[in-house]
Amino acid sequence: MRIAVLVSGTGSNLQALLDAQAAGALAPAEVACVLSNRPGVPALERAARAGVPALVVDHTRFAGDRAGFERACLDELAHHQVAAVVLAGFMRVLTPLFIDAFPGGVINTHPSLLPAFPGADAPAQAIAHGVKVSGCTIHFVDARVDSGPIIFQAPVAVRDDDDAASLHRRIQVEEHRLLPQATALLAAGRLHRDGRRVRVS
Ligand code: GRF
Repeated sequence: MRIAVLVSGTGSNLQALLDAQAAGALAPAEVACVLSNRPGVPALERAARAGVPALVVDHTRFAGDRAGFERACLDELAHHQVAAVVLAGFMRVLTPLFIDAFPGGVINTHPSLLPAFPGADAPAQAIAHGVKVSGCTIHFVDARVDSGPIIFQAPVAVRDDDDAASLHRRIQVEEHRLLPQATALLAAGRLHRDGRRVRVS
């Protein structure tokens, strides 16, 4: 199954997917292209180094026109015959116009144990709230922010001396492990949605 990875920045989760692919652990998923909404980000260099087409649709060219931005993304991805999408640090909200275009689904990784701390800066939210455990969530994307059916979660203990950055680094270790696994299972047709529940066969 040909998948697109959508990114906005550093791309460490993209790197985990590319490394899994190189190790033969992403099949039957194949990273067909990488699309960023921001030009010049390190994630694009990671794609280029791996020989994967790196596309840019700069959202600032579509001020206030979310549908126009999404249609431009869909046009780019259509050239690469993509059946499913993985959001890996993609910092734009997507609507059903985009989400419903992919029969294989759209999945995301989020650095908290949802439904706690949706939205931006989840590790900072967790520190500010004083929770003792946070973690990551791999989930299907639906019409609301960080709300879709949950595929995998992993807990990460919060240490007394953690700040948002140190907590986020340990959460990302879990994301890098689980996002490639979820992507391979998605492509293999082994993720079954039943309402909010996701079963792995
Ligand atoms: C990840 O922690 C992801 O959960 C969040 O943004 C971060 C992106 O990191 N949405 P990277 O670009 O994959 O390094």
